[in-house]
Amino acid sequence: MNTLTRRLYAARTQQGAGAVPTPVPAHGTVPAAATRPAAAVASAADGSDPLAAYRITREPYWRTVGDEVALYEAAYAVRMPMMLKGPTGCGKTRFVEYMAWKLGKPLITVACHEDMTASDLVGRFLLDASGTRWQDGPLALAARYGAICYLDEVVEARQDTTVVIHPLTDKRRMLPLEKKGEVIEAHPDFQLVISFNPGYQSLMKDLKQSTKQRFGALDFDYPEHEVEVEIVAHESGVDRETAGKLVHIAERARNLKGHGLDEGISTRMLIHAGSLIAQGVPALSACRMALVRPITDDADMRDALDAAVTTYF
Ligand SMILES: Nc1ncnc2c1ncn2[C@@H]1O[C@H](COP(=O)(O)OP(=O)(O)O)[C@@H](O)[C@H]1O
Ligand SMILES: [Mg+2]
Repeated sequence: MNTLTRRLYAARTQQGAGAVPTPVPAHGTVPAAATRPAAAVASAADGSDPLAAYRITREPYWRTVGDEVALYEAAYAVRMPMMLKGPTGCGKTRFVEYMAWKLGKPLITVACHEDMTASDLVGRFLLDASGTRWQDGPLALAARYGAICYLDEVVEARQDTTVVIHPLTDKRRMLPLEKKGEVIEAHPDFQLVISFNPGYQSLMKDLKQSTKQRFGALDFDYPEHEVEVEIVAHESGVDRETAGKLVHIAERARNLKGHGLDEGISTRMLIHAGSLIAQGVPALSACRMALVRPITDDADMRDALDAAVTTYF
């Protein structure tokens, strides 16, 4: 903690604001009904809403896989920071979008990358004609006005980025804007969600225990056969029989993970293939383009996957 932050904390404590109260859910317990709270819909129409652009107005399609919806609702009710773990393309992002819609909260998503700095999250001073002007970063915006902030693939970001989320993910629920000399006390609706692909884990790309232990975690994986067929058919527009074949191909490929494939064929890739087929692309070409070519350059592996495709199409 630098001097400024320490001074800011001290000032807050003197004002008696040091102990940040446990946030109270904005509308008590979250309604169990599948419809959004009326208040949330009404505020979306308000032009002055700084988070208007982040409100989800149409229900995202989510096929329930287990008890994830109820567990997330319980976590949100106590504003527990959440970590969604699982391979790429298995539904993590869609799930957060669905939950944000269901809870009637705006969602600010940040795709983390290796050049991302703490300032990209928190904000910075910009120069314009009238001088310097502070611009909140996505994390500051979410904390200030009360959104769910989703940091996608958080391990990709530089280590200093994970440090800025610490004061937001414990009882303090605050975000120091050191350059601006301000401490944002998180809005009661604010929640932090991160996603994390344990498959990519290496010593360099792992979260520190001091970060991990601030979150509740939900495991995500490719859904079981029938559920995945339903999702692929719904999302791509192919019939269930075709979707079933695509899922069979993926299941074969997933068995090759660790035996020459770094990652299996994801639900997202199956939807790509299905969307091509639904447009009239021959199934064989669609599968090669959407399922096989993207995941491997190894000639033998491509042959093995092509063979799996021709078994079904
Ligand atoms: N349970 C599910 N319900 C609805 N759609 C799903 C589900 N799981 C996966 N999908 C589909 O798979 C696609 C990829 O999922 P996404 O959320 O982008 O993956 P991730 O964020 O895990 O990489 C989504 O756009 C959605 O179409
Ligand atoms: Mg994602």
